[in-house]
Amino acid sequence: MKFFKSTVYQIYIKSFNDSNGDGIGDINGITEKLDYLKDLGVDYLWITPFFKSPQKDNGYDISNYLEIDPIFGTMEDFDNLIKESNKRKIGIMLDMVFNHTSTEHIWFKKALQGDEKYINYYIFKDEKTNWESKFGGNAWQYVKELDKYYLHLFDVTQADLNWDNKELREELKNVVRFWKKKGVSGFRFDVVNLISKPNKFVDDNIGDGRRFYTDGPNIHQYLKELVKDTNLEDMITVGEMSSTSLENCIKYSNPNEKELSQVFNFHHLKVDYKNKDKWELMEANLDELYDIFSLWQEEMYKNGGWNALFWCNHDQPRIVSRFGQDKEYRIISSKMLATFIHLLRGTPYIYQGEEIGMTNAYYKDISEYLDVESINYYNILLKKGKSKEEALNILSQRSRDNSRTPVQWNNTLNAGFSTGKPWMNLSNNYKEINVEKDIKDEQSILNYYKKLVSLRKKEDIISQGDIKFIKQDNNKIFIYKRTLNNEKLYCICNFSKEDIDLDMSKFKDYEVLIQNYSDVDYNKIRAYEAIVYIKR
Ligand code: GLC
Ligand code: CA
Repeated sequence: MKFFKSTVYQIYIKSFNDSNGDGIGDINGITEKLDYLKDLGVDYLWITPFFKSPQKDNGYDISNYLEIDPIFGTMEDFDNLIKESNKRKIGIMLDMVFNHTSTEHIWFKKALQGDEKYINYYIFKDEKTNWESKFGGNAWQYVKELDKYYLHLFDVTQADLNWDNKELREELKNVVRFWKKKGVSGFRFDVVNLISKPNKFVDDNIGDGRRFYTDGPNIHQYLKELVKDTNLEDMITVGEMSSTSLENCIKYSNPNEKELSQVFNFHHLKVDYKNKDKWELMEANLDELYDIFSLWQEEMYKNGGWNALFWCNHDQPRIVSRFGQDKEYRIISSKMLATFIHLLRGTPYIYQGEEIGMTNAYYKDISEYLDVESINYYNILLKKGKSKEEALNILSQRSRDNSRTPVQWNNTLNAGFSTGKPWMNLSNNYKEINVEKDIKDEQSILNYYKKLVSLRKKEDIISQGDIKFIKQDNNKIFIYKRTLNNEKLYCICNFSKEDIDLDMSKFKDYEVLIQNYSDVDYNKIRAYEAIVYIKR
């Protein structure tokens, strides 16, 4: 597999870098930063959707798959980005949102006009079920034009597509072919394990409906068909798998199955949901976190699956504010979390700003939030009886906007993101936390990430070694061991701000491969310490 040694960098285009001063990040803004990304050492850029869209869900509501939304630039800008990234041997991965389109898509409009062909592109039914939308409320919307309901697992403006219709599948293959021809190197498929819907639509009396459409009946068949017919076997392809199972993920990502090359799952990012509810706060359950990583890492390895490794993306709060500590331990805990992820088996993803330890947004007022899910849930929380303060406190930890604030490039106006008014408020800590500062500081988080990215390239044991987790009595200490031939590597992390006694004397004849403290203490693992020992 040719991605063994690669690291992917995720760009949330709207907030990455604005080249023309309209306050919105754009394609040319990415091109401007290619040298920065090259220097970081990443191999691929996953760029979130920049296709034509009414932007109700920041581009995940596509109204035309083959055109670029003018707020992000032009097709010439894109061709230029491909050319410039090729020069630097960086591949571009595009985000294919194939579970749904915007209701502004011409297909949906034609459906509403009664055109049978397009009615069959979507899921229109006479009766609705009690399923819940992932953004809150019922998942069906009535339309008087057809006197029917259509399914929308996400926002009401995101209508689910009918993958059981062969004609629709062909249509989507053409989208892949179009962008492949433009020279892209791979694809990320949005919530792709939700595309296969059940044969019968019935009420869910025990849950929100997801058990009927998650990893649905024909999902493996549809993925195989898509990959085969568009020749994706040799490309990097990653599926976003919502509420999935290990068994399915092995199948999605085992090369023998000829489906995808890797998968995102989110189980490790739910360990701080109280009663599995994203909108109820709880301290992270470290026992659960450990169990999830050890299970997924070891089983995917044994069964030939391949994980995408990540803490952050545009839907998750910032990891340092979540499982780390973003005040006096911001630098050290960012490095610890990075070490833990980057030495695992799989393909690591860095989300823009993570490499400098950007924090949650810490918005004070509901008017600062722009995300549709956040606003919906704010209202739902109020209806459920939470006070405004409580609801805001929950958003300040759970909102997707926490990771969507503009990238902090330097300490000048708007953190160097834009010369105009940014489309969303910046975090007010950009004077202390920014790229320019980190470039100059040898001990910075940025330089630490650079080292992690290059270690994966240099050390076969990281890219190809076996993996085994070693359970500790103290649940704050995470240890895993990698082995390859005669080599052994131990990654030891402390997920807390306590110093904990730990006898590491057996590592006295090991080399320290990377660490986030400047000296070694064989008797204890210090606050948020990460240390990696290797013996060759
Ligand atoms: C995925 C995207 C998210 C989007 C949703 C609907 O989860 O990452 O941003 O809102 O799909 O497309
Ligand atoms: Ca712009």
